[in-house]
Amino acid sequence: MSTEREVVCVTGASGGIGSWLVHLLLQRGYSVHATVKNLQDEKETKHLEALEGAATRLHLFEMDLLQYDTVSAAVKGCSGVFHLASPCIVDEVQDPQKQLLDPAVKGTINVLTAAKEAGVKRVVVTSSISAITPSPNWPADKIKNEECWADQDYCNQNGLWYPLSKTLAEKAAWEFAEEKGLDVVVVNPGTVMGPMISPSLNASMLMLLRLLQGCTETYENFFMGSVHFKDVALAHILVYENPSAKGRHLCVEAISHYGDFVAKVADLYPNYNVPKLPRETQPGLLRAKNAATKLMELGLEFRCMDEIIKEGVESLKSKGFIS
Ligand SMILES: NC(=O)c1ccc[n+]([C@@H]2O[C@H](COP(=O)([O-])OP(=O)(O)OC[C@H]3O[C@@H](n4cnc5c(N)ncnc54)[C@H](OP(=O)(O)O)[C@@H]3O)[C@@H](O)[C@H]2O)c1
Repeated sequence: MSTEREVVCVTGASGGIGSWLVHLLLQRGYSVHATVKNLQDEKETKHLEALEGAATRLHLFEMDLLQYDTVSAAVKGCSGVFHLASPCIVDEVQDPQKQLLDPAVKGTINVLTAAKEAGVKRVVVTSSISAITPSPNWPADKIKNEECWADQDYCNQNGLWYPLSKTLAEKAAWEFAEEKGLDVVVVNPGTVMGPMISPSLNASMLMLLRLLQGCTETYENFFMGSVHFKDVALAHILVYENPSAKGRHLCVEAISHYGDFVAKVADLYPNYNVPKLPRETQPGLLRAKNAATKLMELGLEFRCMDEIIKEGVESLKSKGFIS
């Protein structure tokens, strides 16, 4: 397929996943409108400008999700949009509405409105497994899949604002698509790790760093499996390029517990301070090897947990986050 001259927009391009997606899109010949929050901040721009193909096919836009004009300027002239920008904070927040819910939900509506206005042919929305879990009422004997939604009441009652933000944003996207007749497709990644292009740690790489430093958090309501940066970026491109791709797409190398992940890190890196955690860190979550069937049917071959961990740890080392 020729993607030469096709122009697409990536929101949140400076971030952990965004920079990988921009890299692969440029490699495939796309021109990319990449949004960053602050054009003056080299930590957001330099690694993008250094990518192969960037000199001629990367255009940076300063965008604030809550300022519609900045969103529409970035989307204008594009035939596709990848909407990744959303605050990814699993630590406690002071003001969940302002810090998480508004940018996630209103931001998504702004991006979709701009896409509709610009006549975009398909929008890929980056949701999360956090719009699938926590889901305590899902049948105990059934492997979680794309039909499963995070329980909003449970999130509200337990102050789980990040899963709530992703769930509300994804539901808003589906509602918009239905009402306004916009072609939307969704990717639901697990915990994304591996080699970083961006100089800043995203929430999931911070999770890995903290684990190596001895953190005993079990992420009970936040984990469902891991996935490599490159595979998440590829998943976005696959669902964009395949007209047959519809609906949500679970994107994990396997459904696993955080305890499995921790045991594997300890095994591969015995010299770090990795704690001993119980294997069952996500009570009731059924493990499944080939869980991301929809993406596998589109041709995605997921990198395994060993590779995700090794490349993630080596990246933390090479960027000086650990020695
Ligand atoms: N990391 C994971 O494990 C994971 C798993 C599933 C889904 N996701 C989803 O994947 C997407 C990207 O996550 P990531 O891990 O790459 O995180 P990230 O590195 O924190 O990237 C998020 C990007 O969104 C931008 N952004 C946040 N709020 C914004 C606002 N109000 N206006 C404009 N831009 C804004 C950020 O800009 P600044 O850097 O300037 O704040 C950043 O570039 C998010 O939607 C996240 O929910 C992530």
